Amino acid sequence: MTTDIFYEKFKEIYQHPAQAISSAPGRVNLIGEFTDYNNGFVLPCALAFATRILYRKRDDNQIIVHSLHYPGEHDKFSIDDDITQGDSQWGNYIRAVAFVFKRQGHQLSGVELLIDSNVPQGSGLSSSAALEVAVGGVFNQLCQLNLSNQMIALLGQQAENDFMDCQCGIMDQLVSANGEKDHALLIDCQSLATKSVSIPDDLSIVIVNSNYPRKLVDSEYNQRRIDCEQAAIKMSTTTLRDANIDMLHAARYKMTNNEYKRAHHVITENIRVLNAVDALKNNDMQALRELMTASHHSLKNDFEVTVPETDGLVDICQTALGNEGAVRMTGGGFGGAIVCLCRHTDINKITDAVAAHYYNRFNIHASIYVGKAGDGLQVSVF
Ligand code: GLA
Repeated sequence: MTTDIFYEKFKEIYQHPAQAISSAPGRVNLIGEFTDYNNGFVLPCALAFATRILYRKRDDNQIIVHSLHYPGEHDKFSIDDDITQGDSQWGNYIRAVAFVFKRQGHQLSGVELLIDSNVPQGSGLSSSAALEVAVGGVFNQLCQLNLSNQMIALLGQQAENDFMDCQCGIMDQLVSANGEKDHALLIDCQSLATKSVSIPDDLSIVIVNSNYPRKLVDSEYNQRRIDCEQAAIKMSTTTLRDANIDMLHAARYKMTNNEYKRAHHVITENIRVLNAVDALKNNDMQALRELMTASHHSLKNDFEVTVPETDGLVDICQTALGNEGAVRMTGGGFGGAIVCLCRHTDINKITDAVAAHYYNRFNIHASIYVGKAGDGLQVSVF
């Protein structure tokens, strides 16, 4: 939706203009999957796709939410009451953020919100983290809380963990808060330190969404996390961040096969992330390809979060790009998207190959986005 229509819509719904706008992006993860909640390393970049929220303070304690994408539906709740789940699935994300801000002792005020987003939903590009961080940006500015972006991200993660019942790590919210245009963000999920890594000018980030309907994602996701925690306990470490392959082999006899495989993925993936930072800095396509291919195999065989559709897409795109590209699944798995790194001139190889083979093999159409690394959370008062 163009900006003008967005602003007009706010006026039409609430009978006065908005006072400010908060905007937070989705993300694509280049490498480092399921390492965040194991205190490991990740290398995502924020995308130019974003969730934007126009807002205006109210004189009472009501929070009212409308979304351009769900015109017949709105949500309304009071911050004076206990905040619990409502009927609107997307409205619950706003409730979740209000719940954790309130729990942390922040004094909130009533507000009118209108949401718009061009982050593709259900494709593993973190539309929910974008929404949580954008809402966090609203409360932070509106209530003069002076929170850091890192704290807004942590509260977004708590919203997901404690209200939405998904035991996710910090990657999505932190890159949505702190992303930087034209850069990927190396995050050390133990210290939360971040380092920007420049994306070479001639490198394109192509995202192909399998459009495979994601089912039971949260329960599978949470189970993987439990397996990792159990494996860490059996190696007598607090998290898998402190484990290495020798420790894994030594403790294998105590582990279930799944615990062993999940830990094997995480330990090897952490090493791949650090190597990928160097490969990106050197614009070394061969190294990127080897690392991303190894990551995908590990996600398929050890972490078991791919589906035939995402495996098939990786195969189709890697075959089309040959030595000139690096490809793997990205995000929370069980469907969702794959990410390809290639030269600009090779993008059409991906679009042609997907058009020629994906539907024929899987009976679903894929969606393709050429991603641009964008900035993180922005809040402006008019
Ligand atoms: C989801 C979660 C993240 C991360 C990824 C997998 O996107 O929200 O915290 O665990 O899956 O890397």
